[in-house]
Amino acid sequence: MEEKIFKEPDGLSDDIKLDSNEINSLVKIGKNMLKTKSPDEMLKSADSAGLNKTLGAFDLIILGVGAIIGSGIFTVVGIAAAGGPESVGAGPALIISMVLASLACVFSAMCYSEFASMIPVAGSAYLYTYATMGEFLAWIVGWVLMLEYLVGYIAVASAWTGYFMQFLQGFPFLPSWLTHPPVYLVNDYTSAVSILTKQGLNPSDVIPVIFNIPVAINLPGILMTLIIMAILIKGIKESTKMAGFMVFIKLAVIALFVITGAFYVKPENWSPFAPNGFQGIFMGAFIIFFAYIGFDAIATAAEETKNPQKNLPIGIIGSLGICTIIYVFVGLVLTGICPIDKIDVQAPIAHAISSVGQGWIAGLISIGALTGLTSVLLVLMLAATRILYAMSRDNFFPRALKTVHKKFKTPHLITVLVAIICILGSTFLNISTAAELCNFGTFTSFIIVCVAVLILRKTDPSRPRPYKVPFSPWFPLFGIICCSGLMIYSMKFLTTSRFLFPLWIVLGIVFYFAYSYGKQRRVEGDK
Ligand code: ALA
Repeated sequence: MEEKIFKEPDGLSDDIKLDSNEINSLVKIGKNMLKTKSPDEMLKSADSAGLNKTLGAFDLIILGVGAIIGSGIFTVVGIAAAGGPESVGAGPALIISMVLASLACVFSAMCYSEFASMIPVAGSAYLYTYATMGEFLAWIVGWVLMLEYLVGYIAVASAWTGYFMQFLQGFPFLPSWLTHPPVYLVNDYTSAVSILTKQGLNPSDVIPVIFNIPVAINLPGILMTLIIMAILIKGIKESTKMAGFMVFIKLAVIALFVITGAFYVKPENWSPFAPNGFQGIFMGAFIIFFAYIGFDAIATAAEETKNPQKNLPIGIIGSLGICTIIYVFVGLVLTGICPIDKIDVQAPIAHAISSVGQGWIAGLISIGALTGLTSVLLVLMLAATRILYAMSRDNFFPRALKTVHKKFKTPHLITVLVAIICILGSTFLNISTAAELCNFGTFTSFIIVCVAVLILRKTDPSRPRPYKVPFSPWFPLFGIICCSGLMIYSMKFLTTSRFLFPLWIVLGIVFYFAYSYGKQRRVEGDK
């Protein structure tokens, strides 16, 4: 019996056995996949790229705060405090969740800063991986960063449309086709189905069908995406000027909330402090992590930064620090003026302030949220284009994509491509799945950057590091532990994104072997 099991059927053994040529080719493929790119080579290709160096430390902090403060603090904070469909809330212990999430970010921010000051080139985590872990993992990181920036963009665009409609509804003289358009014109397909079902309607009776496909689109989000695309093509300095204006408005509105709200805080609302104990605090930290995403986008503008060795760490750590302080104040005031069971998860900040009789501030908060979300959209799309730009310069994508516009000196073809992907994606993905996927992508890139810092300290210890992560290896290790802890814990509760994340990785591997691996070898052969 045993003999039968282990006996190879005739003919199969020849297929399985590898001859020495095949073994050699496999070894060669493995070696190619592990090929690293030296930081000096990266700096050289960045120098010849010709991007304009216009950004200083202040511009970078504006860019960072612009990328960070958005739907997280204006919307997601309510779910983190009061709970959502798949998670329990932290309650007033929200401020502990905020500090936990910011800890996960701060260790990674230091690692980003060490790399960004050492290798100030567009591409951030993707290039840091290329320098330390080789071609294949670099590709995977670039692919995963697309989740963070492109899919994060889709999540924020969806929230943007929600606030935009709320804003329009504040003007009673506007025609109703504008303030209350059909659901299928302001939502992705899944959200439209869920809204119509809740209204007791049959979605297939309402959603139009074109060529047998039911079509629901986020039209305001699409128009906004086209505007942002045009701004980014025009120039990065213009983009940060715009972001600066929007950052000012959103900070002013948040300050108004904190200062006015402080007069209405009732300390008894802070008790019980952690109604759902450890689980509430930890899930709150996972959810509010979305509110911190964006500081890493600064590193993608490295090639357009003056004196990057000094300015990048200031920009990255400075913007994260400012946002953490702001968030803790917002968390304290929100849970202090509004009992946890009264928090509105759609518009928590605006609702809390109007519940204490300050409705006029609630109106201003909607405007602040709208500008806040716009600046996040701007920076997320900027980051997505710079990562793709770096990847096309490394021959992972067709050569044409790396073209820089003659007049504006921006990667215009990539910007158009990214806008098209965002528009298509916003038709299929709903906000919660997009936000979860964005979190997964971000956690993964943070973990890899922390690992990469440890590797490069060993393999290239003498390279000048204008900024060094203090207490290495402990701080990078804490970053790895915090991020992987939050990521693994959240997987217990999530369903769709837990399936889509690995699927995205598999698609990336298929693309690498079907196109990018061969392209790399052809370019090497041409040299
Ligand atoms: N941190 C960004 C936001 O909250 C993604 O919108």
